[in-house]
Amino acid sequence: MKKLLIAIIIIAGIMSAQEKKGKISFKDDVMPIFQKKCMNCHNTEDESPSGFYLDNYAELMKGDSRNGPVVIPKKGEESILILKLRGTATFGKQMPRGKIVLDANIIDMISKWIDQGAKNN
Ligand code: HEC
Repeated sequence: MKKLLIAIIIIAGIMSAQEKKGKISFKDDVMPIFQKKCMNCHNTEDESPSGFYLDNYAELMKGDSRNGPVVIPKKGEESILILKLRGTATFGKQMPRGKIVLDANIIDMISKWIDQGAKNN
């Protein structure tokens, strides 16, 4: 009986952690990926390709790169950012250019962040 109770408590704990995880954070979840995989090319110190900068949230959302806004809030799968990561954009190469494609789970996560409103959270 005691074991069952402990199991229930553990499962409840995992479920509430997952609920929290459902909400994607720009600062904690999305930005670290850009820092690791994209910023060596897309940064304001070098002249970023396509005029697309990923230094921070404001740069990402500015929408003044060569092909216009790359993030359309609430429309992850239609956003250029996701099309470029999935390799389905109608121009240029799949991102990160010349590197290993991001894991599908990571692309899904970024797409979900956009679906949740692409907030600076
Ligand atoms: C090795 C350098 C390099 C890396 C790393 C890189 N990119 Fe790029 N990126 C480019 C170049 C060059 C272009 C312009 C040509 C093209 O569209 O393929 C570009 C274009 C883009 C565009 C299109 C912007 C527009 O409006 O035209 C997006 C979005 C983008 N990159 C996102 C990313 C993301 C997200 C990452 C990290 C996962 C990344 N890139 C990593 C070189 C890079």
